[in-house]
Amino acid sequence: MTSESLKQLLNIFWLRPETALWRHLDIEAMRDFKFTGRSLDFGCGDGLFSFIRAGGEFDPLFDAFQKTANLDRFYEKVDVFDAYDESYAPLVAKKPDYQISVGFDHKPNLLKKAAGLGLYAETVVGDGNEPLVFEDASFDTIFSNIVYWLNDPATTMAELSRILRPGGQVCLMLPNATLPEYSFFNRLFVQTQDPAWSWLDELDRGRLSDNIKQAASDEQWRQIFGSAGLKVHRHTNHLSKHIIQAWDIGFRPMFPAFMKAIEAIPADRLADVKAEWVDSLKRFAVPFAATELQDNPANAFHCYVLTK
Ligand SMILES: C[S@@+](CC[C@H](N)C(=O)[O-])C[C@H]1O[C@@H](n2cnc3c(N)ncnc32)[C@H](O)[C@@H]1O
Repeated sequence: MTSESLKQLLNIFWLRPETALWRHLDIEAMRDFKFTGRSLDFGCGDGLFSFIRAGGEFDPLFDAFQKTANLDRFYEKVDVFDAYDESYAPLVAKKPDYQISVGFDHKPNLLKKAAGLGLYAETVVGDGNEPLVFEDASFDTIFSNIVYWLNDPATTMAELSRILRPGGQVCLMLPNATLPEYSFFNRLFVQTQDPAWSWLDELDRGRLSDNIKQAASDEQWRQIFGSAGLKVHRHTNHLSKHIIQAWDIGFRPMFPAFMKAIEAIPADRLADVKAEWVDSLKRFAVPFAATELQDNPANAFHCYVLTK
């Protein structure tokens, strides 16, 4: 049986099924975490992940690619999703089961997309590398999947601890020390400097240098948590080498071409084409996801629930 969240994710990320699989496994990994009291989604982006995690559902015609920009500069590593205008209308079919008090991100366009979901009571623009604008002990629960995108995890952790009330919980996704070893670009080009593999830089799109650099072992993360006054309540490792390698290539290289192909489909045919595409993806995504439910210390990501 396909879980509703995987169905929803395949629907909104149909042109990037590797993202749907990854995010489904994130939802599974954090299933015991509950947003309670005043809550923060730190680095919420366009909010689509947290909306689906909260039980929200979209109309089959909606997807994550409604508003993109600079597709002609995709291979220059530009963020093509950093775009918004008034025409952006998320087609919500079912409201989420809970609300999150604050959605925080540094990209105003993404926050405008998030604001239309009915998930966040408030959205706040800010740079996670700077001291946070929130009061001490002002949140009961925090979720974040962006700590490893920031400059210094120890400083970020101290800030998250400062704004969390005593007894509160933080749920974090953080890269494991194994992740760089699963990256084709790192293993085949960075480590060997073999020019025959230099083209993998275009496939990597800056991921290794921008965020995989923060990869660390459980022991290393626990040291950082300890210094910030946070204790590990629950820890698992998800995202196997297979999933990372499927994601490392995925449909990503074809994204601009796929977008042009979709635009060329007559409006009255799109629903059928999409339904067949998503059904074909399910044949592979559903059994693949089912192989992934074991906690394994060699997996590429940590999921922590921490308490203060
Ligand atoms: C991996 S996405 C996660 C988005 C969302 N939380 C999710 O799980 O799908 C990383 C997010 O971090 C945000 N981000 C990156 N650097 C940031 C910074 N310095 N301050 C605030 N947000 C940042 C990006 O804009 C993006 O939305």
